[in-house]
Amino acid sequence: MDLKDIHDSLVSLAYKAGDIINNALPETNDTGSKKNSADLVTEYDRAVEKMISTSLKEKYPEYVFHGEETYDPNRPLTDAPTFIVDPIDGTVNFVHSFPYACVSLGFAVNRVPTVGVVYNPVTKTLYSAIRGQGAFLNLETRLPLKGENAEPLTGLSNALVSIEWGSDRSGPNWETKIATFVKLGQAKENGGAMVRSFRSLGSAALNMCAVAEGTMDLYWEGGCWEWDVCAAWVILTEAGGIVADGSPGGWNPRVDGRKYLAVRGAPAGQKEIVEEFWGNIQGEL
Ligand code: IPD
Repeated sequence: MDLKDIHDSLVSLAYKAGDIINNALPETNDTGSKKNSADLVTEYDRAVEKMISTSLKEKYPEYVFHGEETYDPNRPLTDAPTFIVDPIDGTVNFVHSFPYACVSLGFAVNRVPTVGVVYNPVTKTLYSAIRGQGAFLNLETRLPLKGENAEPLTGLSNALVSIEWGSDRSGPNWETKIATFVKLGQAKENGGAMVRSFRSLGSAALNMCAVAEGTMDLYWEGGCWEWDVCAAWVILTEAGGIVADGSPGGWNPRVDGRKYLAVRGAPAGQKEIVEEFWGNIQGEL
């Protein structure tokens, strides 16, 4: 299996998808929704996925293809080499022209994320990695950006933490998330962890790539799908970061509860900050 060839094909598809995304004219009142007004799909999501799946099936007919817009709950992720694709991650941003949407192209082997390409065509930012070969920004700058000068993680109170609200706005998952956000953000005298601040980029893949860059310390979300995380997972781990509780290796996203805590590469403190974070989660996701 030629991983470099797969990587290069994904990079060129990412640029092609980027042209479609940049030339699109989505409107906030002209989208389809999946389950509610926070869960959007546009004709562009479908067109980009079609272009990518057609090209990958033609070039690599022996590999499985999983895409967000053709998701089939009866086709779980298996050990077979599989392309895992989100044609537009950050669809809400895309529709509102908030400049954080990307195409997320992953390739997993034995359910291990192995090649990842994430491209934000608006800012022209490309993240990519092949397992065991490092992670790169725009194909040349090695991640994390601070390299060996990255600072240790000293605890949640110094951490910039990325969170997402998700599209489920009721039920136990939502309640756990909201209670956890309060606990993480609250002043220490009121029993909180008082993280330095929260960000929400609106795209799981771009949140994880920000952690890979080292511009964000942590990213936590419960409810991501495999196409949201596969590509950025390779990029993050190749940049020295970790995905906690996402069962790397025997990764089984639909069974694991789809919980992900991404932690940036650091000379020390990764394990401690994961434990501190888990201690603040307010219930089951
Ligand atoms: C969503 C975005 C969002 C995250 C959701 C994802 P989509 O993907 O990444 O930030 O909170 O979990 O499903 O719907 O824009 O492809």
